[in-house]
Amino acid sequence: MITKPKGTYDIYGDTAKYYNYINDTFKTVCEYYNYEYIRTPIFEESELFHRTVGQTSDIVSKETYDFKDRGNRCLTLRPEGTAGVVRSFIENKMYGDVNQPKKFYYSGTMYRYERPQAGRYRELSQIGVEVLGCASPLIDAEVISLAYRLLEEMGIDNITVKINTLGNNFSRENYRSALVHYLEPHIHELCEDCKKRFTTNPLRILDCKVDKDSDIIKNIPSILDYLDQESKTRFDQVLEYLTYLDVDYEVDSNLVRGLDYYNHTVFELVADVDQLGNASTLCGGGRYNGLVANLGGQDTPGIGFACGIDRLIMVLQELNKDKDITSSLDVYVMAISEEEKLTAIRLVQDLRWCEIKTEMDTLNRGLKAQFKQADRLKARLLVLLNSKDLQKGLITVKDNLTKEETKVDEDEILDYIISNL
Ligand code: HAM
Repeated sequence: MITKPKGTYDIYGDTAKYYNYINDTFKTVCEYYNYEYIRTPIFEESELFHRTVGQTSDIVSKETYDFKDRGNRCLTLRPEGTAGVVRSFIENKMYGDVNQPKKFYYSGTMYRYERPQAGRYRELSQIGVEVLGCASPLIDAEVISLAYRLLEEMGIDNITVKINTLGNNFSRENYRSALVHYLEPHIHELCEDCKKRFTTNPLRILDCKVDKDSDIIKNIPSILDYLDQESKTRFDQVLEYLTYLDVDYEVDSNLVRGLDYYNHTVFELVADVDQLGNASTLCGGGRYNGLVANLGGQDTPGIGFACGIDRLIMVLQELNKDKDITSSLDVYVMAISEEEKLTAIRLVQDLRWCEIKTEMDTLNRGLKAQFKQADRLKARLLVLLNSKDLQKGLITVKDNLTKEETKVDEDEILDYIISNL
């Protein structure tokens, strides 16, 4: 038997219901906030991710799926969505649109060669937003509150918004030097990855999962003490707007995030769910003001976030574990003879086009088995077609709750069903 590749899973049954629910809710919320849908390719030139996500990030250094196509081009399955959206913004000259800022939302699969575990997959699904062309702290607050309200809308309310700022380039460099100075005498005590990070990207040592409880990390200097006035004022404004928007947050000065492109605001939405363990971050994002210029576009500020759909599904399954989420059917149409089936297929089609969720038997079941199937599908109304009635132009409708049966004129059947649902 051929089985699925390691780190992937099939989405069907109840999981598929949650998957669709999350995407539908996300689309609705994004449209309220006036974001437009964007879809970019699942694979891009490898160079795109090396220049955006960063050579020193774990994602690019260890986790990308790289391949050469038949034309010998170096391509990479996207590990995340931001780089593709920014590439598209530049390539399609969207900076020239009169309608600014550009506010996008997307949903899709991403690929990371990670060690599979609960909430961590090699094929993962994300929903995300990106706003390009607005440096105002108002947009930072909008983006964070969109993520927060989205989770709330889905009934997930045990959420902490962790927020930090990496400041502008000046503040970040200032902090980097202080960090190197502080860490240098201790570097031999840190894990192997951190030893490498010390030379490539010392800020990443702050979110090391191995050393996080060591005294060295606990006493690490806080970036908030190295901000210049501009970065500090900006961060204070973001926090003030969040307070106004009733978003509960917690400033976490050790939050740096695993991708290299961030500056100023960075944030994560973390769920209090046991099953997720180390993977309890549902959502992560931040500002990336240098990214568009870095990819050859005009200097344009940007900010966004992405939420892991796979993790959201796990949280929703846990929250709703005592609830029956199977949705019910509106109408089940029952037919046995060929003549009854002909009437049935037409009626089923008409009902479906009236936005009524309808099903009929296609497995040649007998009458008793059709009644059972209608019950399994939790049909609200049963339409019982029989040749004798049909000759008189009549159709029997049975209310599956009250068990009451009514004979309805064939010409009035649609109206009758619509008014009795
Ligand atoms: P990220 O933190 O790498 O950020 O991923 C965002 C979310 O995707 C995580 O919080 C998590 O829920 C989910 N996720 C990440 N890796 C996995 C995995 N292996 N399995 C399951 N879920 C996973 C980004 O991707 C940035 N592009 C976010 C962003 C948008 N920043 C600015 N704009």
